Amino acid sequence: MKVLMINGSPRANGNTARALKEVADTLAAEGIETDTVWIGKKPVRGCVACWQCMNKELGRCVFDDDVANRIVEKLPEADAFVVGAPVYYGQPNGAFMAVWQRVCVAGRKHVECKPAASIAVCRRGGSTAAYQCMNMPFEMLNCPVVTSQYWNIVFGREEGECEKDTEGMQTMRTLARTMAWLLTNPKRPDAVPCTPQEPCQPMHFIR
Ligand SMILES: Cc1cc2nc3c(=O)[nH]c(=O)nc-3n(C[C@H](O)[C@H](O)[C@H](O)COP(=O)(O)O)c2cc1C
Repeated sequence: MKVLMINGSPRANGNTARALKEVADTLAAEGIETDTVWIGKKPVRGCVACWQCMNKELGRCVFDDDVANRIVEKLPEADAFVVGAPVYYGQPNGAFMAVWQRVCVAGRKHVECKPAASIAVCRRGGSTAAYQCMNMPFEMLNCPVVTSQYWNIVFGREEGECEKDTEGMQTMRTLARTMAWLLTNPKRPDAVPCTPQEPCQPMHFIR
Protein backbone atom coordinates (compact mmCIF):
# COMPACT_ATOMS: atom_id res chain seq x y z
CA MET A 1 0.00 0.00 0.00
CA LYS A 2 1.37 3.38 -0.98
CA VAL A 3 0.47 6.99 -0.21
CA LEU A 4 1.57 9.63 -2.70
CA MET A 5 2.50 12.90 -1.00
CA ILE A 6 2.98 16.24 -2.71
CA ASN A 7 5.17 18.96 -1.24
CA GLY A 8 3.74 22.07 -2.91
CA SER A 9 6.26 24.46 -1.37
CA PRO A 10 9.17 25.97 -3.27
CA ARG A 11 11.23 25.19 -0.16
CA ALA A 12 12.40 21.58 -0.36
CA ASN A 13 13.09 21.42 3.37
CA GLY A 14 10.55 23.90 4.67
CA ASN A 15 7.68 23.47 7.05
CA THR A 16 5.49 21.70 4.49
CA ALA A 17 8.23 19.10 4.05
CA ARG A 18 8.52 18.73 7.82
CA ALA A 19 4.75 18.28 8.26
CA LEU A 20 4.68 15.69 5.48
CA LYS A 21 7.59 13.85 7.09
CA GLU A 22 5.62 13.55 10.33
CA VAL A 23 2.78 11.96 8.35
CA ALA A 24 5.16 9.70 6.40
CA ASP A 25 6.97 8.49 9.53
CA THR A 26 3.69 7.66 11.23
CA LEU A 27 2.37 5.87 8.14
CA ALA A 28 5.63 3.88 8.00
CA ALA A 29 5.08 2.80 11.60
CA GLU A 30 1.65 1.56 10.46
CA GLY A 31 3.31 -0.42 7.64
CA ILE A 32 2.31 1.95 4.85
CA GLU A 33 4.81 3.14 2.25
CA THR A 34 4.97 6.75 1.03
CA ASP A 35 6.40 8.51 -1.98
CA THR A 36 6.89 12.27 -1.77
CA VAL A 37 7.12 14.50 -4.84
CA TRP A 38 8.44 18.03 -4.41
CA ILE A 39 7.04 20.40 -7.01
CA GLY A 40 10.31 22.31 -7.09
CA LYS A 41 11.17 25.91 -7.92
CA LYS A 42 11.01 25.82 -11.72
CA PRO A 43 8.20 27.58 -13.60
CA VAL A 44 4.95 25.65 -13.82
CA ARG A 45 1.96 26.11 -16.08
CA GLY A 46 -1.66 26.60 -15.25
CA CYS A 47 -4.52 24.75 -16.97
CA VAL A 48 -5.43 26.39 -20.31
CA ALA A 49 -8.77 24.53 -20.56
CA CYS A 50 -7.82 22.78 -23.82
CA TRP A 51 -9.47 19.59 -22.47
CA GLN A 52 -7.17 17.47 -24.62
CA CYS A 53 -6.28 15.35 -21.59
CA MET A 54 -9.95 14.33 -21.42
CA ASN A 55 -11.30 14.64 -24.96
CA LYS A 56 -8.37 12.83 -26.52
CA GLU A 57 -8.16 10.53 -23.53
CA LEU A 58 -4.46 11.34 -23.20
CA GLY A 59 -4.55 10.67 -19.49
CA ARG A 60 -1.85 13.31 -19.07
CA CYS A 61 -1.42 17.03 -19.57
CA VAL A 62 -0.45 18.32 -23.04
CA PHE A 63 2.23 20.41 -21.33
CA ASP A 64 5.04 18.04 -20.53
CA ASP A 65 7.64 20.59 -19.49
CA ASP A 66 7.00 20.75 -15.76
CA VAL A 67 6.36 18.47 -12.80
CA ALA A 68 2.62 17.89 -13.42
CA ASN A 69 2.94 14.80 -15.61
CA ARG A 70 5.63 13.37 -13.31
CA ILE A 71 2.89 13.37 -10.65
CA VAL A 72 0.21 12.08 -13.05
CA GLU A 73 2.46 9.10 -13.84
CA LYS A 74 2.55 8.19 -10.15
CA LEU A 75 -1.22 8.31 -9.58
CA PRO A 76 -2.18 4.76 -10.64
CA GLU A 77 0.06 3.09 -8.08
CA ALA A 78 -1.12 5.36 -5.25
CA ASP A 79 -3.77 4.13 -2.82
CA ALA A 80 -4.20 7.55 -1.18
CA PHE A 81 -2.93 11.11 -1.35
CA VAL A 82 -1.62 13.77 1.01
CA VAL A 83 -1.04 17.22 -0.47
CA GLY A 84 0.74 19.92 1.49
CA ALA A 85 1.13 23.57 0.61
CA PRO A 86 2.27 26.79 2.27
CA VAL A 87 -0.26 29.56 2.74
CA TYR A 88 0.44 32.63 0.60
CA TYR A 89 -1.93 35.56 1.08
CA GLY A 90 -4.50 33.33 2.73
CA GLN A 91 -4.45 30.82 -0.15
CA PRO A 92 -2.44 27.76 -1.13
CA ASN A 93 0.63 28.96 -3.05
CA GLY A 94 0.03 29.53 -6.75
CA ALA A 95 2.55 27.00 -8.08
CA PHE A 96 0.93 24.20 -6.10
CA MET A 97 -2.55 25.14 -7.32
CA ALA A 98 -1.41 25.43 -10.94
CA VAL A 99 0.12 21.96 -10.86
CA TRP A 100 -2.51 20.23 -8.76
CA GLN A 101 -5.48 21.48 -10.81
CA ARG A 102 -3.86 20.04 -13.95
CA VAL A 103 -3.08 16.76 -12.18
CA CYS A 104 -6.70 16.44 -11.06
CA VAL A 105 -8.05 17.00 -14.57
CA ALA A 106 -5.57 14.88 -16.50
CA GLY A 107 -5.30 12.14 -13.90
CA ARG A 108 -8.84 12.31 -12.58
CA LYS A 109 -9.68 8.61 -12.90
CA HIS A 110 -6.67 7.67 -10.79
CA VAL A 111 -7.53 10.14 -8.03
CA GLU A 112 -11.24 9.34 -7.75
CA CYS A 113 -12.49 7.43 -4.73
CA LYS A 114 -9.10 7.23 -3.01
CA PRO A 115 -8.68 8.60 0.53
CA ALA A 116 -7.04 12.02 0.45
CA ALA A 117 -5.88 14.71 2.84
CA SER A 118 -4.72 18.30 2.54
CA ILE A 119 -2.29 20.11 4.84
CA ALA A 120 -2.01 23.89 5.01
CA VAL A 121 1.16 25.40 6.47
CA CYS A 122 1.32 29.01 7.56
CA ARG A 123 3.05 31.56 9.77
CA ARG A 124 -0.08 33.04 11.31
CA GLY A 125 -3.34 33.34 9.33
CA GLY A 126 -5.35 32.21 6.32
CA SER A 127 -4.78 28.52 6.93
CA THR A 128 -8.42 27.45 7.12
CA ALA A 129 -9.31 29.21 3.83
CA ALA A 130 -6.33 27.56 2.15
CA TYR A 131 -7.22 24.19 3.67
CA GLN A 132 -10.79 24.42 2.36
CA CYS A 133 -9.48 25.37 -1.05
CA MET A 134 -7.14 22.37 -1.16
CA ASN A 135 -9.92 19.98 -0.21
CA MET A 136 -12.27 21.17 -2.97
CA PRO A 137 -10.93 18.88 -5.76
CA PHE A 138 -11.05 15.85 -3.46
CA GLU A 139 -14.63 16.65 -2.47
CA MET A 140 -15.81 16.46 -6.08
CA LEU A 141 -13.77 13.41 -6.97
CA ASN A 142 -15.50 11.11 -4.50
CA CYS A 143 -12.41 10.99 -2.30
CA PRO A 144 -12.99 10.28 1.38
CA VAL A 145 -11.31 13.36 2.87
CA VAL A 146 -9.12 12.30 5.76
CA THR A 147 -9.32 14.46 8.84
CA SER A 148 -7.64 14.56 12.22
CA GLN A 149 -8.12 15.78 15.79
CA TYR A 150 -8.03 19.34 14.42
CA TRP A 151 -7.91 20.79 10.91
CA ASN A 152 -4.78 19.62 9.11
CA ILE A 153 -2.88 22.84 9.78
CA VAL A 154 0.67 23.47 10.94
CA PHE A 155 2.26 26.75 12.02
CA GLY A 156 5.80 27.99 11.39
CA ARG A 157 7.72 30.61 9.46
CA GLU A 158 11.39 29.74 9.15
CA GLU A 159 12.29 26.33 7.77
CA GLY A 160 11.62 23.60 10.32
CA GLU A 161 10.07 26.01 12.83
CA CYS A 162 6.82 24.06 12.74
CA GLU A 163 8.48 21.39 14.90
CA LYS A 164 7.75 23.74 17.80
CA ASP A 165 4.04 23.53 16.96
CA THR A 166 3.62 20.41 19.01
CA GLU A 167 -0.15 20.30 18.55
CA GLY A 168 0.29 20.69 14.79
CA MET A 169 2.77 17.82 14.74
CA GLN A 170 0.40 15.69 16.77
CA THR A 171 -2.39 16.58 14.33
CA MET A 172 -0.15 15.23 11.53
CA ARG A 173 0.37 11.93 13.36
CA THR A 174 -3.34 11.57 14.08
CA LEU A 175 -4.10 12.28 10.43
CA ALA A 176 -1.67 9.53 9.40
CA ARG A 177 -3.25 7.01 11.78
CA THR A 178 -6.74 7.88 10.55
CA MET A 179 -5.56 7.40 6.98
CA ALA A 180 -3.94 4.07 7.86
CA TRP A 181 -7.20 2.91 9.42
CA LEU A 182 -9.17 3.98 6.33
CA LEU A 183 -6.73 2.20 4.03
CA THR A 184 -6.47 -1.07 5.90
CA ASN A 185 -10.08 -1.49 7.03
CA PRO A 186 -11.54 -2.39 3.58
CA LYS A 187 -8.91 -5.14 3.22
CA ARG A 188 -10.46 -7.04 6.10
CA PRO A 189 -12.48 -10.17 5.21
CA ASP A 190 -15.64 -8.72 6.79
CA ALA A 191 -15.37 -5.36 4.97
CA VAL A 192 -18.45 -4.13 3.10
CA PRO A 193 -17.63 -3.12 -0.51
CA CYS A 194 -18.41 0.40 -1.66
CA THR A 195 -21.82 0.76 -3.32
CA PRO A 196 -21.42 1.19 -7.11
CA GLN A 197 -22.04 4.78 -8.19
CA GLU A 198 -24.43 6.03 -10.88
CA PRO A 199 -22.73 7.29 -14.06
CA CYS A 200 -22.14 11.04 -13.78
CA GLN A 201 -24.79 13.25 -15.43
CA PRO A 202 -22.91 16.51 -16.05
CA MET A 203 -25.18 19.54 -16.41
CA HIS A 204 -23.98 23.05 -17.13
CA PHE A 205 -25.98 25.93 -15.69
CA ILE A 206 -26.58 27.70 -18.98
CA ARG A 207 -30.32 28.28 -18.60
C1 LIG B 1 4.50 35.23 -0.66
C2 LIG B 1 4.22 34.71 0.71
C3 LIG B 1 2.98 34.93 1.28
C4 LIG B 1 2.69 34.45 2.56
N1 LIG B 1 1.44 34.64 3.05
C5 LIG B 1 1.13 34.15 4.28
C6 LIG B 1 -0.19 34.29 4.80
O1 LIG B 1 -1.10 34.79 4.16
N2 LIG B 1 -0.41 33.82 6.06
C7 LIG B 1 0.58 33.25 6.82
O2 LIG B 1 0.30 32.90 7.95
N3 LIG B 1 1.81 33.05 6.33
C8 LIG B 1 2.12 33.48 5.07
N4 LIG B 1 3.38 33.26 4.54
C9 LIG B 1 4.36 32.51 5.34
C10 LIG B 1 4.44 31.02 4.96
O3 LIG B 1 3.15 30.45 4.86
C11 LIG B 1 5.23 30.24 6.00
O4 LIG B 1 6.55 30.76 6.05
C12 LIG B 1 5.28 28.76 5.75
O5 LIG B 1 5.94 28.12 6.82
C13 LIG B 1 5.99 28.40 4.47
O6 LIG B 1 5.98 27.01 4.29
P1 LIG B 1 7.27 26.24 3.68
O7 LIG B 1 8.37 26.38 4.68
O8 LIG B 1 6.84 24.85 3.46
O9 LIG B 1 7.60 26.95 2.40
C14 LIG B 1 3.68 33.73 3.28
C15 LIG B 1 4.94 33.50 2.69
C16 LIG B 1 5.20 33.97 1.42
C17 LIG B 1 6.54 33.66 0.78
